Amino acid sequence: MEELRKVFLLILFLLSAAETRSEPQVPCFFIFGDSLVDNGNNNGLLTLARANYMPYGVDFSDGPSGRFNNGRTTVDVLAQLLGFRNFIPPYSTVQRNEVLRGVNFASGAAGIRDETGNNLGEHYSFTEQVEHFRQVVQVIRRLFQRNDTKLFDHLSKCIFFIGMGSNDYLNNYFMPNYYTTSSDYSPTTYSAVLLEDYSRLLNQLYELGARKVAAIGLGEIGCIPYELARLSSSNNKTGSRCNEKINKAINIFNIGLLKMVKRFNRDMEDAMFIYVNTYESSKDLVKNAMAYGFSVVEKGCCGVGRNNGQITCLPLQTPCANHSSHLFWDAFHPTEAANQIYATKAYNSTSSLDVYPMNIKQLALA
Ligand SMILES: *[C@@H]1O[C@H](CO)[C@@H](O)[C@H](O)[C@H]1NC(C)=O
Ligand SMILES: *[C@@H]1O[C@H](CO)[C@@H](O)[C@H](O)[C@H]1NC(C)=O
Ligand SMILES: *[C@@H]1O[C@H](CO)[C@@H](O)[C@H](O)[C@H]1NC(C)=O
Ligand SMILES: *[C@@H]1O[C@H](CO)[C@@H](O)[C@H](O)[C@H]1NC(C)=O
Repeated sequence: MEELRKVFLLILFLLSAAETRSEPQVPCFFIFGDSLVDNGNNNGLLTLARANYMPYGVDFSDGPSGRFNNGRTTVDVLAQLLGFRNFIPPYSTVQRNEVLRGVNFASGAAGIRDETGNNLGEHYSFTEQVEHFRQVVQVIRRLFQRNDTKLFDHLSKCIFFIGMGSNDYLNNYFMPNYYTTSSDYSPTTYSAVLLEDYSRLLNQLYELGARKVAAIGLGEIGCIPYELARLSSSNNKTGSRCNEKINKAINIFNIGLLKMVKRFNRDMEDAMFIYVNTYESSKDLVKNAMAYGFSVVEKGCCGVGRNNGQITCLPLQTPCANHSSHLFWDAFHPTEAANQIYATKAYNSTSSLDVYPMNIKQLALA
């Protein structure tokens, strides 16, 4: 009897060992975006959009890495939910043999438009990120002995995460002292111009082999500490908590992005595009802040001035005591606690308010 029990326990052990060694739900995960998902690509660049210093990364396993919050970004959490054992490496330091699992091309201050973010210094725009992906595809092709069947089969199973556009508003359209876009375009025309570029780059990714794409909508940028700090009582005409002029412009973009996703799904029958509604998710996070454990939603945990939003978190500055009680880590970026919720919603929410027409878990299986 005792022998039988030992055999049984051994089988259980082997099963659980096989489970922990199991493969991720998709072979690879490619990331395009800005500081919300950058994991170190700006570390070697001449830019103010850098975060490889304390207290950024204070709750991250390896300390400051270039991630723009206290811990993991949404794509770090998503990589874990998808079953990856390691985080997806940044393009700037990726090793040749790592590219099969995916690469993170995201760069702080980057936007859809090439000039976006120039006020902060160097970065890799969406266009450059797609060029970097083109180079990576050539590396994979060589690893596959130039077998294009194998290459396209591999790429068609990967998830492509695209979080682009916030800076085209933050560090472009709503920065009229530096950029002319707000006098050149109405919010509607500007959104159309952005989506034209977005669509062209998405087409290039499709041509290169992308078949499972998650397009991430923009959050309530009019409600981030940076914008709350800029919204002085004199120009707070709407009586709202947030800058509704910005939110209105963001909404126009998001509606257009959803339309674009629908069009791509109609036109490319062998691919699946999904829209992740960050705007709804961020509204939910504020509305149900207490239930999510957030007691502070208007102020960054680390920063200077009104709402801790006038100057972003400085090197060696002491952050707030309880990081996970804050929705925002600094003037612009959510805390790891908030990223965990954003990622989980994108991964397995069944509400069409959060994800359309399916979530990332279903996209992995599609
Ligand atoms: C290319 O890869 C495919 C799929 O892995 C395989 O079936 C095929 O035999 C390969 N072709 C060559 C020429 O090696
Ligand atoms: C704008 O005004 C409303 C109503 O007076 C107030 O509740 C809100 O806090 C103000 N927003 C900011 C950012 O000052
Ligand atoms: C920090 O905040 C979280 C979320 O609000 C709460 O659950 C936790 O008890 C707090 N920790 C401390 C030490 O106050
Ligand atoms: C979504 O995934 C999270 C993390 O694995 C899990 O805790 C949660 O129960 C899941 N929710 C649903 C609705 O499946």
